[in-house]
Amino acid sequence: MIDQRRLPRRFEYLHCQTLDEMIEAIRSMAIRGAPALAVAGAYGMVLAALKASTGNVRNQSKRAGDLLIASRPTAVNLAWGVNRMLQIVNDESISDVEIASKLLSEAHAMAEEDIQINRKLAKNGASLINDGDTIIHHCNTGSLAVVDWGTALGAIRFAHEQGKHIHLLVDETRPRLQGARLTAWECEQYGIPYEIITDNAAGYFLRSGKVNKVFFGADRVAANGDVVNKVGTYMLSLAAHTNGVPVYSVFPLSTLDMSIPNGDLIPIEERDGDEVLGLEFHGEPVAPIGAKARNPAFDITPHELITSLVTEAGIITAPFEKNLARCVYNIRLEGK
Ligand code: MRU
Repeated sequence: MIDQRRLPRRFEYLHCQTLDEMIEAIRSMAIRGAPALAVAGAYGMVLAALKASTGNVRNQSKRAGDLLIASRPTAVNLAWGVNRMLQIVNDESISDVEIASKLLSEAHAMAEEDIQINRKLAKNGASLINDGDTIIHHCNTGSLAVVDWGTALGAIRFAHEQGKHIHLLVDETRPRLQGARLTAWECEQYGIPYEIITDNAAGYFLRSGKVNKVFFGADRVAANGDVVNKVGTYMLSLAAHTNGVPVYSVFPLSTLDMSIPNGDLIPIEERDGDEVLGLEFHGEPVAPIGAKARNPAFDITPHELITSLVTEAGIITAPFEKNLARCVYNIRLEGK
């Protein structure tokens, strides 16, 4: 995997050989972004099965699944990816010696599917973007956050490759700076014109009348359309809604959790306060020595603030509860 902790200064690969290394890569955010976590979780299951002691593959794989799912609790894609692998582990028709190779094929298939799904997402999302649009984008939702292409940034990239002239306002995304470090780096790769803004400046730009759209991804979407995404999404959506700027959340259906009725019931990961306090100013720590910090990694954006949800199955508008259920039902009916 690309080690996302090093970007944009250094482009380095991180090689995980064991389950513990994969869990550490996920926790420390060497790999991050909901769909990328699904695939990392799947390969983590492969590593666990490969290292499992003979005769104990199933039990050790199930334990690995629990550890992986707990490593980052909010993005449901991680649990989705691991649970998909557990279906193989739980299939009694597969012998113990075959499990690791079956898991490996499934992980490769999942990675390949992710690319195809993101292409569809990107195309659907791009249809909402007009030539000349100025867009505020939150967090990192590009290739780095998935296997390839991305969700919200994938849509922007697709529109850019269609020849639409887009100007991107990339918010920094405190405290891990996924915007300033990763989205800006991806914009450099694709040639998308961009400027970095502080998270706090979004309200100013939205009120100016010069921003046409707000785009972001999602880490988990509840059955009623509430979107849990990188912290700051809620404030951004509030400011956009108040100023009549459309808000789009772009995500694969693996991010949809129909078992959760609304966003307030989604577990929100709270990370170490050091991520907030680690900022330096003139080479010195910003905060007083001994200061404490709170660091929720995600927040909940109520569906009323969202204009459309963009998925690989199409663009979903209000009433979200009804239309999301219909979308999932149609997919099951078509056996996709
Ligand atoms: O904590 P992160 O960086 O893993 O959070 C990522 C996000 O919030 C993204 O916006 C989300 O996963 C969608 S990415 C395709």
